[in-house]
Amino acid sequence: MNATAQTTTRRAFLGSSGKAALAALAWGTGHGQGRAATRMRLAMVGTGSRGTETWGRSLMRTHADYVELVGFCDINPKRAARAPAYCGVTAPVYEARDFDRMVKETNPDAVIVTTTDCFHAQYVVRALELGVNAICEKPLATEAEQCQAILEAEARTGRKVITTFNARHGNSSEEIKRILMSGELGRILSAEFHEYLDIDHGASYFRRWHGKKRFSGSLLCHKASHHFDQMNWWLDAEPAEIHAYGRVAFYGANNPFRSTHCRACPFTKQCDFYWDITKDRRMTELYVAGEEIDGYRRDGCVWDNAIDTYDTMTVEVRYANDVLLNYSLNAYLPYEGQTIAFNGQKGRLDVRVYQAQPWKVEGEAEFRLTLNFKGTKTWVVQSERGEHGGADARLKDLLFKPGTPDPLGKAAGSRAGVLSSLIGIAARKSIENGRRYRIDELIRFPLVWA
Ligand SMILES: NC(=O)c1ccc[n+]([C@@H]2O[C@H](COP(=O)([O-])OP(=O)(O)OC[C@H]3O[C@@H](n4cnc5c(N)ncnc54)[C@H](O)[C@@H]3O)[C@@H](O)[C@H]2O)c1
Repeated sequence: MNATAQTTTRRAFLGSSGKAALAALAWGTGHGQGRAATRMRLAMVGTGSRGTETWGRSLMRTHADYVELVGFCDINPKRAARAPAYCGVTAPVYEARDFDRMVKETNPDAVIVTTTDCFHAQYVVRALELGVNAICEKPLATEAEQCQAILEAEARTGRKVITTFNARHGNSSEEIKRILMSGELGRILSAEFHEYLDIDHGASYFRRWHGKKRFSGSLLCHKASHHFDQMNWWLDAEPAEIHAYGRVAFYGANNPFRSTHCRACPFTKQCDFYWDITKDRRMTELYVAGEEIDGYRRDGCVWDNAIDTYDTMTVEVRYANDVLLNYSLNAYLPYEGQTIAFNGQKGRLDVRVYQAQPWKVEGEAEFRLTLNFKGTKTWVVQSERGEHGGADARLKDLLFKPGTPDPLGKAAGSRAGVLSSLIGIAARKSIENGRRYRIDELIRFPLVWA
């Protein structure tokens, strides 16, 4: 099946709710002419960093003509209370247990789910059940049962899910898609993807909830869901079978000393990873100010014995069309970047992505396209300025700006979210249980989505 056909377009997404369909109609005529007649009403669950920054303050600065934030909800009332002013809007705030009430009272077109990963599915399903579409951060799910529940809820309710795979939208990612779509490499037989996270960005995962598998599903779900989705999308293929190895080889118990979190640590002089969160005003307001409520320490110790998220992992994927993928992720390297390659019947594409500092900026990518018997072509693709190398801005346009073209099929629905999550879930289970996993033993086929 064609990947473009599988994805949910913004129009189809909006079209599934009567009220939103009106908005879409108005947007269709209003595009490019300033303020749209009807803006998408968005309620947020999960008012942390990603929620209030990318889908809050930054969204309101650039897309307030197309979307309005109508409600905020979080398990931590202090973080929720901070959200409206930080995002520059006036909207009611709710406790997490009042999620249903928020949806009923604020009457949104869609709920945006930006909570800790393991809670995405429950809010996505509930939003659909309440008759509202869901826009969900990656990973869409951290367990196979959650994937099944989302697909079944979507089919049952007729509402739509969008997964916010911003990594599809970077310049180098789009360039890869264009090359693969051109057919220049012939049929793709195998692919490689190696992710390098450094001792700043990589380490940050082990300070946070991400370091515990029960919250993040491991980096195979949290982080690699971007990469598995990109591969599925680039290859226009569905994963069939997964095998993986992984271990906590660097962080966690791999150090002679440890504390609970940096502020309480007696080893600040000895520890290369000591980090003073109080020097960062936004972090202090967002996390330290609310920590007596939920006990969450954002500056957790990277040497915590309870860390069980792998920092070293390799994954093999066999796709249904027999493409073989070799993937790895290491989270403690001296620099960041990616090595990506495709081996086709007619040649090979090498892509080397260099991540500039700070790590949120994408940097540049070297492309090398070598065709059998024909020689090599090399070029460099620079990223844009802005969040995630300009990718976040493009994703926002696609979601909220009417008439934004999508020739590469970058819009991603529940199916893309589920298939990328399932590779991570299968890989994690493969590491835990020492065997290969087939996707069709994790989820009931055929996949059903409205
Ligand atoms: N696409 C990207 O580039 C990108 C970048 C960063 C984060 N993210 C995603 O955004 C999401 C949030 O990440 P973050 O960095 O903002 O984390 P965060 O810890 O800053 O925010 C998570 C928020 O969810 C809240 N929360 C936790 N459990 C909840 C529950 N049961 N009900 C309601 N609220 C709950 C927390 O209190 C917190 O405010 C994650 O899923 C992450 O994967 C995506």
